[in-house]
Amino acid sequence: MLSKVRTNYCGRVNQEYLNKTVNVMGWVHRRRDHGGVIFIDLRDIEGILQVVVDPDTEEAFNLADKVRNEFVVEVTGKVRSRPEGTINQSLFTGEVEVLVKTIKILNDAQSPPFLMDDLVITESVRLEHRFLDLRRPDMQKNLKLRHRVSWLVRSYLNDQNFLDIETPMLTKSTPEGARDYLVPSRVNEKQFFALPQSPQLFKQLLMIAGYDRYYQIVKCFRDEDLRADRQPEFTQIDIETSFMKRDEIMKLMESMIKEIFERAVNVNLPTPFPRLSYSDAMDLYGSDKPDTRIQLVITELSQIMEGVEFQVFKDALEQKDGRVAALKIPRGNELSRKEIDEYTDYVRDFGAKGLAYIKIIDAEKLPDGLQSPIVKFLSNDILKMIIEKTGAVSGDLIFFGADKRKIVNESLGALRLKIGTERKIYSEEWSPLWIIDFPMFERNDETGGLESLHHPFTSPRPGHLKVLSDSPETALSDAYDMVINGWEVGGGSIRINKIEVQKKIFEILDLDKREMEEKFGFLMRALQSGAPPHGGIAFGLDRIVALMCRSDSIRDVIAFPKTQKAQDLLVGAPDFVDEKQLRDLQLRHVQSRS
Ligand code: AMO
Ligand code: AMP
Repeated sequence: MLSKVRTNYCGRVNQEYLNKTVNVMGWVHRRRDHGGVIFIDLRDIEGILQVVVDPDTEEAFNLADKVRNEFVVEVTGKVRSRPEGTINQSLFTGEVEVLVKTIKILNDAQSPPFLMDDLVITESVRLEHRFLDLRRPDMQKNLKLRHRVSWLVRSYLNDQNFLDIETPMLTKSTPEGARDYLVPSRVNEKQFFALPQSPQLFKQLLMIAGYDRYYQIVKCFRDEDLRADRQPEFTQIDIETSFMKRDEIMKLMESMIKEIFERAVNVNLPTPFPRLSYSDAMDLYGSDKPDTRIQLVITELSQIMEGVEFQVFKDALEQKDGRVAALKIPRGNELSRKEIDEYTDYVRDFGAKGLAYIKIIDAEKLPDGLQSPIVKFLSNDILKMIIEKTGAVSGDLIFFGADKRKIVNESLGALRLKIGTERKIYSEEWSPLWIIDFPMFERNDETGGLESLHHPFTSPRPGHLKVLSDSPETALSDAYDMVINGWEVGGGSIRINKIEVQKKIFEILDLDKREMEEKFGFLMRALQSGAPPHGGIAFGLDRIVALMCRSDSIRDVIAFPKTQKAQDLLVGAPDFVDEKQLRDLQLRHVQSRS
């Protein structure tokens, strides 16, 4: 029994309660007047229950007549079987109904802007009225699943001896590649806290402090451009361990993810997760978070095209970082001119200048068996090699990308996803994998400087310390990302625990001594106080739950998310502050330190 008064959840009443008197409370999901008998679908967090009000119970009937959608009511009555033909197998409560004895209106409600089982509601309306949107059974399901996942994570990590330790929200910048959200300090004039982009440095300090195994389910804040899988505040399952090697950490984390998928949604992820190097991922899929369910791969053609006279390919390969690559589409001969033009427009969004193609009408007849605007520029030998390397057969089509490597990867990578999805060239199986062997750094095209691909505390691969001095751009890191169905769900690394290595990285990142001290002095001192070998990972909880719900957007698994413009439409944040608050903070006189 729930309580002395409310005996049951609406959604939990079934045959077991036949002929029993129950008291339930909830919201009016729908009210139907069937010529003298009133039916109410009563909804609470557990589901929907049909209650029936007969004109015989006059007082109840008069009240039932008054209730409207979303009124809050209390009902007492007897559980009975639904008459034949009115059973609803899709509801847990679908075989029973409650014949009402008394009804109480606990509160009325204005007519809602949408019904709770409406399927087409614009997202802005949903977000503006989130307290109503959250009443929808879909959202209830999602948030319950989210709760279950957090619980399973905690239970797994607790069993493995991990300690849940909180780290500060008002802190100093932790570089994870985004901008910081800043909070002015009232008592320290002209100074600001930064909200954490992640607890990265605190978890490392906890390892240095000897806490051995740490975790936290924690909010992180990043001021960056938002997408379906990115929110300005989001939740990480943040984990760090001491004295474990890369492969041990990966194995432990893989088994945690496998277990939570199994126990939360009964999905059996195939283990061990395949491992793919960053460079193979980029070459084959044009992405460091490939959706390997899609069975299309990119074929490298740069060597074959060396010396070819076709200007587009020649220009690409003459660039410092040029690439010519192909994407073979099985049975792509069917694509019309119009469809090919649409794909060409699509790749332009990713910087591609065009999308050459060859339709293979008859693979045995070269060049007449091929249909293409570029065949005339290519010798039979080259055509043969292209067909061989891509494995194309009669009926296929081959697309070509030629440009800087980054543009080819992004455009063919995106085209691969689009065509794979549209033409259903994918498997229905879940597809988890690890990406490993990331480069330590990437060059920022705008500034020309090197930047950490993960974060600056990531250790080089064993043996890559020397490469770091000789040619930092080719050094590989001891980082690993977990990808599921094309979503990066987690990322981590073995950390640097030697001060000389950390200093070297800061130098490569162009930090001078003063900056090192100002930004990371505390870390450098800690690294010199007996820092154990350590490493860890952080998973995006929102992304994991969204994947489990098969939702396209993490907004569907966050109770109060923000829009693409980083606004909370419900409470109206961000908002202007009043003059007095500004004066208190002396914001008008703020100057930066330098
Ligand atoms: P990283 O930056 O890769 O690593 O973040 C870890 C995981 O957090 C999720 N994530 C996000 N989810 C929603 N919205 C966002 N804006 C967002 N940004 C990241 C992703 C990602 O894989 N400190 C390191 C971890 C470590 O090295 O241990 C870190 O934060 O799922
Ligand atoms: P053009 O010589 O510009 O007429 O292009 C010939 C073919 O090559 C057309 O099908 C273009 O779409 C294609 N093309 C042009 N630039 C590129 C590029 N950078 N990568 C791939 N194909 C391209």
